[in-house]
Amino acid sequence: MQLFTLLSGLCCLVAVTASPIQKRAFPNPEPCSGNCTWIHDPSVIQKDGTYYRFSTSGNIAIATAPSMTGPWTYKGALLEHGTSIYVVDGQDIWAPDVFKVDETFYAYYAVSKMGIQTSDIGVATSTTLDPGSWTDHGSLGLPKSAEYNLIDPNLFKESDNSPIYLTFGSYWNDIFQTTLNDSPIKFSGITPKNIVSNSTINAAVAEGSYQFKWQNYYYVFYSAGACCNTPPNLAKPGDEYRVIVCRSDSITGPFVDQSGKDCLTQSGGTLVLGSHDDVYAPGGQGVMYDPDMKSPVIYYHYVKPSVGYNADQFFFGFNYLDFSSGWPVVV
Ligand SMILES: *[C@@H]1O[C@H](CO)[C@@H](O)[C@H](O)[C@H]1NC(C)=O
Ligand SMILES: *[C@@H]1O[C@H](CO)[C@@H](O)[C@H](O)[C@H]1NC(C)=O
Repeated sequence: MQLFTLLSGLCCLVAVTASPIQKRAFPNPEPCSGNCTWIHDPSVIQKDGTYYRFSTSGNIAIATAPSMTGPWTYKGALLEHGTSIYVVDGQDIWAPDVFKVDETFYAYYAVSKMGIQTSDIGVATSTTLDPGSWTDHGSLGLPKSAEYNLIDPNLFKESDNSPIYLTFGSYWNDIFQTTLNDSPIKFSGITPKNIVSNSTINAAVAEGSYQFKWQNYYYVFYSAGACCNTPPNLAKPGDEYRVIVCRSDSITGPFVDQSGKDCLTQSGGTLVLGSHDDVYAPGGQGVMYDPDMKSPVIYYHYVKPSVGYNADQFFFGFNYLDFSSGWPVVV
């Protein structure tokens, strides 16, 4: 997710007409106890009453808690010995997303390094989620392309017999979607299709997509803007990392925003969560139904300006989502 900091920095040297920023009072994150920092791009899944949280750093950090609010306990690395994928010297493993298909858990991850566009997506499997239980299968075999960058994988499977959709990206400002084989450790061969694109001049980064179905609609949440700037080089207000949503009545789109603008052809996208109070640059989000609270939740990482902007100071946050209007509202 940290790939494009340099570029998003560059964009700001050029004069752009500020687009109107939606003003909304966002609630603060719900409480978090235990290990709640050094969290980037979290992924949360519940198994037998225990919440498992996966995040970028340390070959994918695994933490567990009895509830979303904690207390979170660090358990160890998912890929203890790293990944079998080689992309570039000094590479890192980023942005895990963990899903259950049949009785197996699949952890998708990106292998990348700041500033490169030849990343790759891999997968590991486990039947328990615990450190030490994971088998790495390496690359999904997605084709590399100048059109996109293989980062930030997200899986979606609606029911037992549905196809398995993978979204990923970006190449600066695009999200792509394709399918995986029934056993979702390999690419299906279907050419990845662009589903979200910001075509405005000096477009914001779009990445970290997350597909979610609620009632009659399919939603694609993603992160836009500058994720990781530090003072004195903070992004202009409104250009910081933030969470955007688009929706469709089909998992494959077309996706539109709340004002009806197409998210592929008209640079549509509705703000779900932006900077507010002591919450700066929230993103790297995922969405899940919390069976304990009986509510959909959005979880993410964010910076507390009162604490600091360094990588080890990113916090884990979550909020409940109200979909009653047909659009997700952080409550
Ligand atoms: C908290 O979790 C992070 C990884 O997310 C890990 O690096 C760190 O060691 C943990 N801290 C403690 C005190 O366990
Ligand atoms: C598209 O990029 C422009 C320019 O950075 C930005 O103002 C706008 O918010 C972006 N749109 C979305 C939906 O992120």
